[in-house]
Amino acid sequence: MILSLGFATLLSLMRVATAQSSTATSSAPTATSTVSLNMAAKAAGKLYFGSATDNPELTDTAYLTILNDTAMFGQLTPANSMKWDAIEPEQNVFNFTGGDQIVALAEQTGKIMRGHNLVWYSQLPDWVAYGNWTPETLTSVIQTHVTTEVSHYKGKIYAWDVINEPFNDNGTFRTDVFYNTLNSSYISIALNAAHAADPDAMLYINEYNLEYSGPKIDAMVQLVTDLKAAGTPIDGIGIESHFILGEVSASELQANMEALTALGVDVAITELDDRIELPATDADLEQQKADYETIVGVCMAVSGCVGVTVWDYTDKYSWIPSSFPGYGEACPWDENLVRKPAYDGIAMAFTSY
Ligand code: XIL
Repeated sequence: MILSLGFATLLSLMRVATAQSSTATSSAPTATSTVSLNMAAKAAGKLYFGSATDNPELTDTAYLTILNDTAMFGQLTPANSMKWDAIEPEQNVFNFTGGDQIVALAEQTGKIMRGHNLVWYSQLPDWVAYGNWTPETLTSVIQTHVTTEVSHYKGKIYAWDVINEPFNDNGTFRTDVFYNTLNSSYISIALNAAHAADPDAMLYINEYNLEYSGPKIDAMVQLVTDLKAAGTPIDGIGIESHFILGEVSASELQANMEALTALGVDVAITELDDRIELPATDADLEQQKADYETIVGVCMAVSGCVGVTVWDYTDKYSWIPSSFPGYGEACPWDENLVRKPAYDGIAMAFTSY
């Protein structure tokens, strides 16, 4: 049978077989760019390209070597160790150990810090979430927490996520202990306390699903408008950017960033990842490259978008597989710390302007 085929046909059959076997042995496509991402971001006029990190990962020396490269990452966000349950697990008992470790790493490697976060419904200790509060006592609890944490890190934090995820997707305020006790006034209480404790820190509200048009971005625009009108300190809005593969709308993301910056606040991409339904194919990784290029390209197109933070740089430590079962491979480095095509997408966005 083979003898009856032409030589060219035979060759092309062999090529297909080789390509298939290389896929089968899982040589997924990798990045080729030689650009370092923080350097590229800064050359493009942005303040930083950064990454979330978490304390347990810092014992992984291969991981740490890449994280410490300041040409690659100019900014860190602690994924967990500055949250309320870590910082003030019991009332008036403060533990800064984990946060201090990440701040020290940033100082040693010349990076700026985003502080994350001060007031959030999640990772909130029971003593706060289930306390029997009056508006007065909860105000005092928020002020003590915010003042103590921000004062501890005074002068070391570029920007604080003072409020995290205050809205439901339908644009109503999330009914957590803060809102249920204080209405939306808890937001200005926290922002004012943070400003008093570190007047030089940029104060942010951070939220997800601001990447699309709809009631949530409208609510955030209204909130910023109201805070500005009341003279409450608010400097920026964090657009988390936990994307699903192929679901990026450049026009909606850009319109939303511009609606916010028009009010006189900065925006930042604070928690970028792009999750893939597993198993990821080579085509998925190419689509992911396109998604990353589009998202970072929107930040490039909006002068008030100050920087981009990935929610950890590697699939090895991504929060996605445990939080979204069936999804993964969301980060620009794979679980072996090898750069994926997504890396090239980011580099392309920072360099083609
Ligand atoms: C995530 C962390 O990455 C996980 O390690 C933790 O178990 C849960 O929180 N939005 C946020 C982040 O603002 O704080 C969350 O971080 C991810 C979603």
